[in-house]
Amino acid sequence: MPQRTLIILKPDAVQRRLVGRILSRFEDKGLKIVAAKFIHISIELARKHYAVHKEKPFFDGVVRYLASSPSLVLVLEGDNVIDMTRKLMGKTFGIEAEPGTIRGDFGASQRFNLVHGSDSPDSAAYEINLYFEPDEIVDYRTSDNEWVFGCSY
Ligand code: TYD
Ligand code: MG
Repeated sequence: MPQRTLIILKPDAVQRRLVGRILSRFEDKGLKIVAAKFIHISIELARKHYAVHKEKPFFDGVVRYLASSPSLVLVLEGDNVIDMTRKLMGKTFGIEAEPGTIRGDFGASQRFNLVHGSDSPDSAAYEINLYFEPDEIVDYRTSDNEWVFGCSY
């Protein structure tokens, strides 16, 4: 079953001109863009985005980081897209993430870790709803869908 996830190429990805290269990682895997917007996330929206962390000591800092400069916000779709994107991103801190992952290859910081991806179907639903109206998500098929995800031979 196709699944959707919210991905953000965060302010450091945009400022460091890594948007194209990071997006390529997801496209190379076979994932499909179904929505995208380039916005400067407000403090208020960032607080909602990271609401699950509101009791944590890093909450204010991570909110300020997400709202510090523009980001590219996307919805990606594909079978098992949530697990796949989390694996492609790597561990939370760039200094711990494995080489070959986005954070492992491009990240040298804890907080400034370039990319966000939803971590469960519930958080994906919550996060997609924060950034996108239902009619901003485009339903379509790619012609190579069966070649990427396989079919039931
Ligand atoms: P978290 O949801 O744990 O990580 P992930 O982005 O991998 O889902 O944390 C949210 C963000 O908060 C994380 O991307 C970076 C930041 N953060 C800190 O600044 N300090 C910390 O100690 C942690 C755990 C996260
Ligand atoms: Mg998280």
